[in-house]
Parts: sequence; structure tokens; C-alpha cells
Amino acid sequence: MSYYLPETVDCNGDTFKVFITKEEIEARVSLLGKKLDKDFEGKRPIFIGILNGAFIFLADIMRSVSIPCEVDFMKLSSYGDEKVSSGQVTELKEIDAKVKGRHVVLVEDIVDTGLSMKYIVERMNSYDPASVSVVTLLHKKDATKHEVQIDYVGFEIPTKFVLGYGLDFAQEGRNLAQIYVLDSEQES
Ligand code: IMP
Repeated sequence: MSYYLPETVDCNGDTFKVFITKEEIEARVSLLGKKLDKDFEGKRPIFIGILNGAFIFLADIMRSVSIPCEVDFMKLSSYGDEKVSSGQVTELKEIDAKVKGRHVVLVEDIVDTGLSMKYIVERMNSYDPASVSVVTLLHKKDATKHEVQIDYVGFEIPTKFVLGYGLDFAQEGRNLAQIYVLDSEQES
């Protein structure tokens, strides 16, 4: 399989540079998979991917665990086509799985202000699961204003706009196989 791995990429009028390489992502995902294997052994967890951004991370996380597990999806929108959060969470698709009494693992691409994750965890808890855990590939720790539970983090990153590996800018760039950052922001 060949991947889309340019050094720089132009997206909606902005230039982005490589920030986290494919190799770094692979190493981290495989480590997270090992931790999940250990922590959820015998628990048959349901991984719930938060669409759209988490679809690639979720696919890799699922293939990095070897315990019996299931998958489902929930779809939210909070960014619209901008580089800053709209401050509102809109639920576009509910989960289909019955999670009452089950171990739920929420899989998110990035936690920024924490608004979306706070909403999702509260929503999941309302279904009365046995447990709710959160895995995020990226965490903009300094930008997180809402109190959120995060159990597994791929990378802590600065408060900068990133793209690729499922993350978009106005719906573009999700097909990039690594993470990119706005060129003008990389050195700041
Ligand atoms: P929060 O609700 O502010 O934590 O934002 C979470 C959502 O905003 C993520 O699931 C992404 O869809 C989006 N988001 C946050 N930061 C970025 C970014 O740097 N690039 C692309 N999307 C982002």
C-alpha cells in the first residue's frame, strides 16, 4: 500500500508542514494497542469512533489490539469549516450499539477545548455502561478549558492547528498519512 506523504501541503490557501511522522504515529498507536489489550482483557470492549476525524486512528487502534472487541460510531460537529471551535456541539449521528453494562472506549482524533469530549462522556454515561474510557490521538492540553477525562493520549501537542491522519481543514486533508501543522505556526 502506498501512502500520501508530502513534505508540505497546501490546503484551502494555507501551507502545512510535517509535524508528527507516520513512523511516530505507528509506534505510538502500537503502544496504545498493547495497553488496551492489557487493560481490557476479558472485557470485550466496544470502541466508539467519533466521526469524522477519528476514522483513521480508530482503524489503526482496532488493528493494534488482539482482544475480542466491537466497534460503533457517533458523529459530532463542532468546528464547521473554521480553524477555531464554534463552541457548540451538534450530534449528527447517535450510536446504534446497546452499551448498557458494557465497557465503552471512546476513540477521538483530538481534544482541544474539551467541549466535545465532555458532551460525549456525559452522553455515554446516560446509557449506563459498565465503564467509559477515552483514547485520543492528540491533546491540546493548554487549550483544554472543560473538565474532561482522558485515559490514553497519543501525543500532547501545543495549541496549534493541525491536519492529516483523519483531521481536516474545511473537510480537506484527511487523506494525509501523517500529521501536519500550519507552516507559519510551527516555530512560534
Ligand atoms: P473541542 O470540542 O474543542 O475539544 O474540539 C474537538 C474537535 O475539534 C475535534 O474532534 C476535531 O474535529 C476538531 N479540532 C480541534 N482541533 C483541531 C485541529 O487542530 N485540526 C483539526 N480539527 C481540530
